[in-house]
Amino acid sequence: MDDKPGRIVITGVAGRIGPTVRAGLRGEAGHLVLLDRVPVEAQDATETAVEADIADLRALAAAFEGADAVVHLAGIADEAPFGDLLDANVRGTYNVLEAARRAGVRRVVLASSNHVTGAYPIHHHVFADEPPRPDGLYGVSKVAVEALGQMYADTFGLEVVALRIGSFEEEPGETRHLATWLSPRDCAGFVRAALAAPGVTFTAVYAVSGNARRFWDLTAAANELGYRPVDDAAAFASRFPDDDPFWHGGPQGGPDSGAEKVLRFAGAGDGPDGGPAEDEPAGEAAGEQAATAPQGDRPGEDSGAGAD
Ligand SMILES: NC(=O)c1ccc[n+]([C@@H]2O[C@H](COP(=O)([O-])OP(=O)(O)OC[C@H]3O[C@@H](n4cnc5c(N)ncnc54)[C@H](O)[C@@H]3O)[C@@H](O)[C@H]2O)c1
Repeated sequence: MDDKPGRIVITGVAGRIGPTVRAGLRGEAGHLVLLDRVPVEAQDATETAVEADIADLRALAAAFEGADAVVHLAGIADEAPFGDLLDANVRGTYNVLEAARRAGVRRVVLASSNHVTGAYPIHHHVFADEPPRPDGLYGVSKVAVEALGQMYADTFGLEVVALRIGSFEEEPGETRHLATWLSPRDCAGFVRAALAAPGVTFTAVYAVSGNARRFWDLTAAANELGYRPVDDAAAFASRFPDDDPFWHGGPQGGPDSGAEKVLRFAGAGDGPDGGPAEDEPAGEAAGEQAATAPQGDRPGEDSGAGAD
């Protein structure tokens, strides 16, 4: 989009990131449509609140009428039963893109995640165009989110920007955040740039602050969106021990990535009615299998001590 969009819809505006995006777009857009399945209050005449579920394609298409752009944040933001991730993140994003197409929206910004590549080892500097290596089923759902965006761009000419959001926090709260932190200021900056960048068809870029210890490449974000983050988690480095085991190796998704995380919800959704299978409670299945599954960042490979 070469000019500032007039009317922007934000889905999932009541969540953790939504208020920062909302505040960051005030004054940038003529009108904001605040969409969530929980009630939200419009501040003044420049905002409209819409209570809707992203499972409801028709409600979305109605809410998107007259909009220039959609910032899609709604969904499940963490590991969850696979069926829930498919419904909320994959089908939900399909509904958002399809509603955008029907309503003639020009651009959609998708909240993707760093977990699409979370299985790369921490010593690997990942470029945005490297193959996905999700570190869990949540990451898998975000790979599908990006694929849907790419398909809608290729097939229907929708302009789509997928932001692979790092760790959105007021301030870094754990060692890993020295690499992965996305400050509120940079979050707003990435979203504004994703809405305004000219000549976009489809792009997926990391949205992370300019952390000295980051393992994600920001060249694509600079080239395609024209945004260079301003914050650096290094300012908080003294709060965390230098010799934290995190820096010794392992997956970028963090120490809790791997079999245990993926199997935490194993069995949920296997039953005939979508609930846990009768003879295999989810927790038990997860515990047993996690004990025997490989702990490296990829089966048969060590956990990433090798730099590249
Ligand atoms: N917070 C992070 O650090 C982070 C990192 C990477 C990616 N992301 C992605 O960014 C997005 C926003 O993250 P967040 O931390 O604000 O999540 P959140 O869970 O705090 O908020 C999600 C919002 O979406 C709404 N929502 C959920 N399901 C809905 C549905 N079916 N219909 C309508 N609204 C629904 C919820 O009510 C909530 O307000 C998510 O897509 C998440 O996967 C977040």
